[in-house]
Amino acid sequence: MTIIVIAGGLSHERDVSLRSGRRVAKALRETGRQVIEADVNADLVPLLHRTDDPVVVPMLHGGLGEDGALREVLGVLKVPFVGPNGASSRLTFDKSIATSIVRSAGIDAPLQIALPHDIFRELGAPALMDGIGEQLGYPLIVKPSRSGSALGVTKVEEPGQLASALVAAYAYGPVAVIEQFLTGTEVAVTVLDIGDGPRALPPVEIRPESGVYDYESRYTAGATRFVTPAELDDDVLTAAGDLAVAAHRALGLRDISRIDVMVVESRPYFLEGNVAPGMTETSLAPLAMEADGTDVGHVYAQLVDRATA
Ligand code: DAL
Ligand code: MG
Repeated sequence: MTIIVIAGGLSHERDVSLRSGRRVAKALRETGRQVIEADVNADLVPLLHRTDDPVVVPMLHGGLGEDGALREVLGVLKVPFVGPNGASSRLTFDKSIATSIVRSAGIDAPLQIALPHDIFRELGAPALMDGIGEQLGYPLIVKPSRSGSALGVTKVEEPGQLASALVAAYAYGPVAVIEQFLTGTEVAVTVLDIGDGPRALPPVEIRPESGVYDYESRYTAGATRFVTPAELDDDVLTAAGDLAVAAHRALGLRDISRIDVMVVESRPYFLEGNVAPGMTETSLAPLAMEADGTDVGHVYAQLVDRATA
């Protein structure tokens, strides 16, 4: 068996993906596995064909990686891979679709309005602001429906800021999501299933020094303090874990995901799911694994074995 860690790709999260991929490849080699690192280019399919018993670890973030496209190709080529299939990845990567699926499963999530760019242009900014302010109240969060690492995300304090926040989100894709702003404790819950059903790892609490968990706070060493397990009562930690496992199941995910959760007055709310959680030196899932008594190498080695079983 040869493990092919695919990282890099063509999305706005290319640099983050390369960092995740390098860490996972190194950790797998340290467990004694044979690993090749590959990017997305014209040699990818020939590489998959000429490799004996390939199994892929997709570490692509953003479009082409988390949107299911690569996983669908792997499915057609019958190459086993770690993580959710193409269809579930596609649903989960789209924040508007994922939130509506999760809510229909009875899971709490902030109120949200999805706004395609074409409709934004038709409605015009002033009409929009009135309607949205009435429905969701301010402040609001505006984000691209299909992106990651907080790129294109803006907190909107008052109606006059809404249009430019939407324009910033449309830079990353044709649909923006306008979401009720929840104030509380943000935690990331890694969900892991090595064959005995999905289980929540200890929730990691996110405390950005700047107060905002933006791209800088995510990928600059020391810019965010992480507390694992989160400083919450045991029953709230359990509730956050249960919500994450329920969301993982509702979205049809497998192997590993990270469900981001906001806890407001002891009550957890689903924020989003990640089908290829970041594995960089400042990422959340590796901290959860450590708190669970394991590490990136052992987790991925087990998932690779599961994918080929
Ligand atoms: N989208 C980034 C990589 C994360 O969720 O960790
Ligand atoms: Mg994300």
